[in-house]
Amino acid sequence: MSIRDRRIQYETAGLDVGDLDRDPFAQFNLWYSQAEEAGITEPHAMTLSTVDVNGAPDSRVVLARAADERGFVFYTNYDSAKSAQLEENPVASAVFAWLDLHRQVRVRGNIMKVSAVESDDYFASRPRASQIGAWASPQSRVLANRDELEALVAEMTARFEGHDVPRPENWGGWRLIPVSIEFWQGRPSRLHDRFRYERDRDSWTMSRLAP
Ligand SMILES: Cc1cc2nc3c(=O)[nH]c(=O)nc-3n(C[C@H](O)[C@H](O)[C@H](O)COP(=O)(O)O)c2cc1C
Repeated sequence: MSIRDRRIQYETAGLDVGDLDRDPFAQFNLWYSQAEEAGITEPHAMTLSTVDVNGAPDSRVVLARAADERGFVFYTNYDSAKSAQLEENPVASAVFAWLDLHRQVRVRGNIMKVSAVESDDYFASRPRASQIGAWASPQSRVLANRDELEALVAEMTARFEGHDVPRPENWGGWRLIPVSIEFWQGRPSRLHDRFRYERDRDSWTMSRLAP
């Protein structure tokens, strides 16, 4: 079927203000656990958008590793393109797309590095091969070929032989601290339900948005 003609009806149950938790993080965690139960691949994957030095947007998928009232945390290389963009413009947006459930969650906010202790703690929980990869890969840089990467991995594997792998200084977490979070539920005939939470000092206001 051509892309132009591909369409499905979203017959899922609707969403009303009374169905939503007043706390957007509790609401997020409810939807996240439903995405997990539905068997969605990588339900913690989010498309993260950043803004470069020229004001041009850039997007890529990362994995959320924490989602609580402090925000959404992901881990990456601090010398990567995204980290350079976040240093320059410390704002970001993220979208979780749980398409089998006809749902998306959009987050917009400010970005801060997580503490070194938090990054150390998460790094220590990663599989050893991923720890070596964090040392080996100069993320976002141009490589001559695959062999160059594999040589770097071999070098780091030898370097840490017989030792725990410490966290590289240029690898760690960023926390997206939301100013708004929107929950979208697909409905028939494109008359979807959308609710946006906006931060108002220590509480959140909620609005229904037109689809
Ligand atoms: C499912 C999925 C999960 C990913 N998770 C991460 C992640 O948690 N951290 C990360 O740095 N890159 C992750 N990536 C790779 C990024 O999409 C991207 O290629 C990389 O971070 C370099 O982006 P940048 O050059 O814009 O900095 C993931 C990609 C996919 C498809």
